[in-house]
Amino acid sequence: MPYAHITGWGMAVPEKVLTNDDLSRMIDTNDEWIRDHTGIRERHVACENEFPSTLAVAAAVKALQVANLKPTDIDLIICSTSSPEHIFPATACLIQDQLGASRAGAFDLSAACTGFIFAMNMAAQSIRSGSIKNALVIGAETLTRFVDWNDRNTCILFGDGAGAFVLQASDQPGGVLSAVMHSDGSGGDSLSLPAGGSRLPANEATVHEGKHYIHMDGRAVFRFATRVMGHAAKEALELAGLTTDDVQWIIPHQANYRIIETAAKYLKLPLDRFVINVDRYGNTSTASIPIATVEAIEKGLIKNGDKIVFVGFGAGLTWGALAADWTGPLPTERRVHPESYRTWARVRSWLRRLARLIEGLIWGRES
Ligand code: COA
Repeated sequence: MPYAHITGWGMAVPEKVLTNDDLSRMIDTNDEWIRDHTGIRERHVACENEFPSTLAVAAAVKALQVANLKPTDIDLIICSTSSPEHIFPATACLIQDQLGASRAGAFDLSAACTGFIFAMNMAAQSIRSGSIKNALVIGAETLTRFVDWNDRNTCILFGDGAGAFVLQASDQPGGVLSAVMHSDGSGGDSLSLPAGGSRLPANEATVHEGKHYIHMDGRAVFRFATRVMGHAAKEALELAGLTTDDVQWIIPHQANYRIIETAAKYLKLPLDRFVINVDRYGNTSTASIPIATVEAIEKGLIKNGDKIVFVGFGAGLTWGALAADWTGPLPTERRVHPESYRTWARVRSWLRRLARLIEGLIWGRES
């Protein structure tokens, strides 16, 4: 059975930064309160022409470059997101088109902030089963578009960004070792976006009542997160036959510094074994784990052979963890430049649109 290695990685965040001081000029809050209660100092916010797909493509091109793969080498794209560009088509399909990954099947996965872990597990299982060789797993969000900037309980928390991993089949042992996935739908009300779906389609009343914004019972989510995070990490470790002594890095979902502290206490690990960057990005939901990983790699913290545990929680409620043996890119002679394929991707995409138009005209004349 092939192993599923993590062989490429990339991240992208919007340029615009919103600091706590900026927020204090918009609502009744202050830098000290936000830092004390969350650990967040600033977050990146998408501007008008930035979307989950554009951030995702920027992250994916970097990931493909690290893995030395062309977009057409990819068999599967899973985009985990809670801020999809449309209910349908899937954001993953927009990414597939913009990237020129013409051979890939693409779909979105919705498991809120835990989504990246669920998506990694799905991609790894597809590789392990032998049905695919190369997968692109992306976490991409512009959740600030769903934030009520008058609600100080939520608007201070979220930021935008995307992170991408390439997963590849290899006969060499390593890569994804184990994963656990959990859900408890009875807690769905504690973090939700009530309107805009088929139960409550958006209309004048829902907009007037602010039901198209994120609604959250912060204390309930905090209690849930501190209860499950450490435990999930331990479960994934046990499944992989590892203990905390074997692990170099825990990479947690970046929601709140205090939640990460509680997980560290539960696991009896010092905080310096946790990758933490919530101070500079806020909660980027499903993008937070790959963004934290890419930063840690770029700082030289993660080395080949390191054992890593990714752990997350989020709306749903959902939570989970995944243990991996970090092996880096697979050895290869070839050097590819995925960015250069994007011009062709654009041309091919327009040609396909044109072909559909002509097809429509011919059918219209014949019928
Ligand atoms: N600035 C200043 N004061 C604020 C504030 C803000 N941004 N937000 C809330 N407050 C006030 C409250 O109104 C409350 O005042 P009161 O005591 O006069 O009523 C007080 O601060 C304490 O509020 P509380 O909600 O108990 O604070 P908290 O310590 O629980 O922190 C969160 C609030 C949201 C930071 C915290 O509950 C949390 O992080 N929860 C998890 C959220 C999360 O991670 N969501 C995403 C999951 S993926």
